Amino acid sequence: MATLLLTGASGLVGSRLLPRLVEAGHTVRALVRGDVTLPAGAAAVHGDLADPGSLRPAVKDVEAVVHLAALFRTTDEDAVWRANLDGTRNLLSAVQAYAPRARFVMTSTGNVYDADATRPARESDPCSPTQAYPASKVAAEALVRESGLTWSVLRLPFVYGEGDGHLASMPGLVSRFGLHPAHTYSVAHHRDVAQVVKMALAGTLDSRVVNVTDDAPITVLEMTALAGSEVEGSAEPLTDPWHGRMDGTLLRELGFSPEVPTVQAAARAGIL
Ligand SMILES: NC(=O)c1ccc[n+]([C@@H]2O[C@H](COP(=O)([O-])OP(=O)(O)OC[C@H]3O[C@@H](n4cnc5c(N)ncnc54)[C@H](OP(=O)(O)O)[C@@H]3O)[C@@H](O)[C@H]2O)c1
Repeated sequence: MATLLLTGASGLVGSRLLPRLVEAGHTVRALVRGDVTLPAGAAAVHGDLADPGSLRPAVKDVEAVVHLAALFRTTDEDAVWRANLDGTRNLLSAVQAYAPRARFVMTSTGNVYDADATRPARESDPCSPTQAYPASKVAAEALVRESGLTWSVLRLPFVYGEGDGHLASMPGLVSRFGLHPAHTYSVAHHRDVAQVVKMALAGTLDSRVVNVTDDAPITVLEMTALAGSEVEGSAEPLTDPWHGRMDGTLLRELGFSPEVPTVQAAARAGIL
């Protein structure tokens, strides 16, 4: 088990991943900016990706870094680039200087793939997004790959579960982004994000970019219904029907099998 730094520990994904990493026996430092209550066994290190000086004590002598911290729930594109690209660059520089043998695991997003795909996206498919969030993630992925560190990149889908409010936010996303009710997204439960991070920490995913998905993509309409809300149906044809869909074959070849195979299974298990 490793001494590791987790960034983004206060976020939707990080707050559910952190206790699982502690439970798995890792010694976890969490990079935090504000007052965050951490589970027993985790230590807070106050710092900011924008402040290189604060990153030295955070990374000193760690054996691994799990880099979740990112900015995307905003319309401030400059801030998105600063957090996701400049912030990752600062963190990589600190790791190169003070923990050069550390394994570096970064979460990216399935939004990196081109919208006009003709099937679920594979890891080798074109990624030329223009929006700040996915474009900054593509650029940050490149920094990670070229860092000289031992690395892996996990492209996450829509992550949900454990009362995180993400599914429940779907009606708002439908109106904000004009999502078609029949549009189908790849998804993954927090339990399976943790499973994949553990695979990465064990070295199984070294030098890999991998798509993370459960077994059954699901429509916007069904996600919304499972979260207890309703959106209006539509028989209009879909534009870019494969956008948001990832092919999870590679990760399965590397040994992944989702603990929560579908959103419906999560609902039955009471872990939505
Ligand atoms: N959630 C999803 O469905 C999803 C889907 C695809 C990919 N991902 C990826 O998964 C990762 C986590 O997503 P999330 O949903 O958990 O995000 P989130 O809820 O928005 O949390 C973002 C985290 O990043 C931290 N952060 C942002 N800027 C920072 C900075 N300058 N210095 C230090 N920490 C900073 C935030 O800290 P504060 O609390 O201090 O603001 C927070 O802990 C991201 O890399 C994202 O791209 C998530």
